[in-house]
Amino acid sequence: MTVPLLRGIPTLDDLEAAGRRVLLRADLNAPLRDGVVADDLRVAASLPTLRELLDAGAAVVVCSHLGRPDGPGAPGTSLAPVGDRLAALLGRPVLRSADVAGPDATARARALRPGEVLLLENLRWEAGETAGDPELAARLAALADVYVDDAFGTAHRAHASVSGVPGRIPGYAGRLLAREVEVLGGLADAPARPYVAVLGGAKVSDKLVVLARLLERVDVLAVGGAMASTFLLAEGHAVGSSRVEADRVEEVAGLVAAARERGVEVILPEDLVVAPAFAADAPATTVSVDAVPADRMALDIGPATTGRIAAAVAAAGAVFWNGPMGVAEWPAFAHGTRGVAEALAAAPGFTVVGGGDSAAAVRALGLADRIDHVSTGGGASLELLEGRALPGLEALRRRPDPA
Ligand code: 3PG
Repeated sequence: MTVPLLRGIPTLDDLEAAGRRVLLRADLNAPLRDGVVADDLRVAASLPTLRELLDAGAAVVVCSHLGRPDGPGAPGTSLAPVGDRLAALLGRPVLRSADVAGPDATARARALRPGEVLLLENLRWEAGETAGDPELAARLAALADVYVDDAFGTAHRAHASVSGVPGRIPGYAGRLLAREVEVLGGLADAPARPYVAVLGGAKVSDKLVVLARLLERVDVLAVGGAMASTFLLAEGHAVGSSRVEADRVEEVAGLVAAARERGVEVILPEDLVVAPAFAADAPATTVSVDAVPADRMALDIGPATTGRIAAAVAAAGAVFWNGPMGVAEWPAFAHGTRGVAEALAAAPGFTVVGGGDSAAAVRALGLADRIDHVSTGGGASLELLEGRALPGLEALRRRPDPA
């Protein structure tokens, strides 16, 4: 394996799964709408590892969190709808337990036969999950002989099911986790050039670390979304009533100056779609960044900016995109996001969409098949690109203590 981030981590190639009971940590944290899975990217992405284990003759106990429930049984946080989608995609029944790692899960895991799947309830119904509680980790580990981590989207969380289990039973990286780390690690280490990063989304404060890191690597950085307003303010533009993070202006100005000194091309909006209010039906007008009225806020990038980003994407050897360019769920303010998504779909270079809202946008537009890699990780993909150690990978590198 040539990927340094995976060095020392056993994979499915190292696992003799026949006759074993496997605890598979997946990230099935999918958005629900009206009680059904609204976007099954993560569910579908977990299938190759699950199928491989079942075909090899393992009995598989699947566990995942869903959302951020207030407590056990919080309304709308059962994994039942996810289990239904998983069963439909898998083409086999998915048994379910009523608890996470309690008496019901234990009895059902014990009775599980090779080729059968049991889905535990929402890991976060146990307060010990996010706290990284060793007692919960021990109860989870007791459900199986071996552990497979395929939850890339949760690899940045030092939670009990991520960090605590592989110290107790042997742990292996699943196919999705390995592929994500390979692709994103490759972008971090040796991207094809020119390397273009397109960043959007609401808050620049969430992205400052990854921005600083990316600026050391990229040839072109394009910024859109609400966070672009803070960049525009830092460049001396009036941004009307746009949302800005005034306390970050200086830091952003410093980053942009350092980037330019390094020869990075920084693409900021040259035109914007503005409106008098933050509302789906607010009247939209396109203005130059030099002419944003005082009572208007930016809700999307304009067509000239979209065109400039699209041209950079078309000429790129590699592209990483994270974060929508505007309020993509409102049609009047979705053009920038659509334009960038279409540019990635048509680009000849290697294209990666980093999780979350931009992945949802690409899928909603039916363009996901034309992107080289749509990551299942939002925060996890950013932390990997930031060069931070991911607790999920660190835990797999440790072998269980001999009892
Ligand atoms: C995600 O959606 O990014 C992961 O599933 C992690 O969820 P969290 O941010 O609630 O920990």
